[in-house]
Amino acid sequence: MSNSSNIESILSETRSFPPPATFTAQANIGSEEQYEQLWHMAKDDPSKFWGEMAENLTWFQRWDTVMDGDMPNTKWFTGGKLNVSYNCIDRHLETERRNKAAIIWEGEPGDTRVLRYQDLHREVCKFANVLKSLGIETGDRVTLYMPMIPELTIAMLACARIGAVHSIIFGGFSADAVADRNNDAQAKLVITADGGWRRGKEIPLKIAVDASLEKSPSVEKVVVVRRTGGDVDMVPDRDLWWHDLMADASAECDAVELDSEHPLFILYTSGSTGKPKGVLHTSAGYLLGTMMTSQWVFDLKEEDTYWCTADIGWITGHSYICYGPLANGASIVMYEGAPNWPDEGRFWELIEKYQVSIFYTAPTAIRAFIKWGNEWPEKHDLSSLRLLGTVGEPINPEAWMWYHEVIGQERCPIVDTWWQTETGGIMISPLPGVTATKPGSCSRPLPGVVPDIVTEKGESLEANQGGLLVMRQPWPHMLRTLYGDHDRFLETYFSTIEGCYFAGDGARRDADGYIWVMGRVDDVINVSGHRLSTMEVESALVAHERVAEAAVVGFPHEIKGEGICCFVTLKHDDGTEDLKAELIRHVRHQIGALATPDQIRFAASLPKTRSGKIMRRLLRDIAAGRESTQDTSTLEDFNILAKLRNDEE
Ligand code: PRX
Repeated sequence: MSNSSNIESILSETRSFPPPATFTAQANIGSEEQYEQLWHMAKDDPSKFWGEMAENLTWFQRWDTVMDGDMPNTKWFTGGKLNVSYNCIDRHLETERRNKAAIIWEGEPGDTRVLRYQDLHREVCKFANVLKSLGIETGDRVTLYMPMIPELTIAMLACARIGAVHSIIFGGFSADAVADRNNDAQAKLVITADGGWRRGKEIPLKIAVDASLEKSPSVEKVVVVRRTGGDVDMVPDRDLWWHDLMADASAECDAVELDSEHPLFILYTSGSTGKPKGVLHTSAGYLLGTMMTSQWVFDLKEEDTYWCTADIGWITGHSYICYGPLANGASIVMYEGAPNWPDEGRFWELIEKYQVSIFYTAPTAIRAFIKWGNEWPEKHDLSSLRLLGTVGEPINPEAWMWYHEVIGQERCPIVDTWWQTETGGIMISPLPGVTATKPGSCSRPLPGVVPDIVTEKGESLEANQGGLLVMRQPWPHMLRTLYGDHDRFLETYFSTIEGCYFAGDGARRDADGYIWVMGRVDDVINVSGHRLSTMEVESALVAHERVAEAAVVGFPHEIKGEGICCFVTLKHDDGTEDLKAELIRHVRHQIGALATPDQIRFAASLPKTRSGKIMRRLLRDIAAGRESTQDTSTLEDFNILAKLRNDEE
């Protein structure tokens, strides 16, 4: 591939923040030498490295082989037997953690529950017995379509306890999306609730399940948690109340001894072609990966109160609310509702109330906090925080700086964690006690992760050249297949660059070896033969004091091939023509003439996926003045698209 098809990087960020000495002194990984040693050991002898790490899990039977076969079909810890639920709960009961809070839960209306590890054990055992009584066997698929309530975690761990495979569907998805996923997985059981609370309103989950079941005949039974108390129709012989079933269930249930590669869960992620992809993760490798990365990246300590704000319906919630932290015996905060209910201070109020020490959220949330204003966090005591994290999208450097100054009060390291549903756990991230962080960079690979940035022919690129982000070695927590479609798995991740896992992202590595993710390669635009990352233009826009959020896309341009169209959301007022001209000058000034926007369009809000990522492919149609034929099933709010179309000049 010639250089002309590489991605040009135009944003230069020179700020750097070394970890505070006090943090380093107590960190789980506390020196550059230790990081280097772990990283090289894992690269040069992965079997030895991961074999040693696996001593941190509790095994019913030790493995024969750590790493069996080449990527993409590597099996991990073959011959070994363990149980994920046992590792997340039972083994803590033999220690002082028995009486420690596992889940500190708060509902949106303000109701609270705390489950100690022994409470969690009792509830999980009981529900595992309920599952068995409903005829669920090892290997059966169970759909969970639930609000963020403790029963969701209990149901996940109960499935894991008997070897049933859970498939969690985010509560914001429609009945059709539930039906598609039920059918793809051939789920036998659906677990849901009457509803859940979101911004003071009830999200009617059971109604959506009822509609979905008209189209998903594999489902035999439905278990319903009573959460909101709203009216639901219970279909005789099919629908059962959670509390009725639990009332009679025994609290004794041995964890089933399962093979290391036994499937743990399927999680559907949106595909560009519309049909969702059922990412399959298995037991031992996934658990080990999430457990170790939680220790390294979040520096988890016995006394921490850890809060990840993701919904469990996304991989972040699977790996870093449930499995990783619980395998470490941590105390986790779980919150049901919206960050701006009853007001924009809710998250900061919760941090103060529960003395949260580790806080993990997403750039989309951070941009919303900035828009809402500093007065909300300033009302609360955030001094319990010691570490901040972010995940889900590239974070614009100015949003990073706000997070650092206003929430972290310049005291807390920020871990910008790059990973994917498919990678199972964090891959590239600062180590908070070691890495000097640079705003906007996810920095360096964790031990066991061997990334590269390559041309389309697979040739490694030099420093500061943008290209395709790939992984050259397998890791224990990587996906094993796309459920029921192994060919699509091979095609999607392993056919672009021979011998490598292709993540679909563009990135560059700077002279210090730090990785800067530039977004999905599908989002790259080609301006006069220069391939630019839309994310870099967005970061320049967000650095302007009046801009809250920006999405940049290409549109057909007679002369340049593609022109640059910027959709901009402002912090306060409506945009004027003068402001448009000013923003164009601002981008030119920040990153150069090449990136001069051709169009600025002000928008009240931007189209996003239900997990908060900006959907640039929909904006491309609007910028080009085309009718869209694209899949919008993961879009959060259809009204935004209609509004953007009406606003067209
Ligand atoms: O484009 C990258 C972006 O999110 C994609 C993965 O999305 P998903 O499977 O939904 O998982 C999100 C939670 C792990 C990646 O391909 N992404 C995620 N984290 C970052 C990121 N981009 C830049 N920096 C990150 N820290």
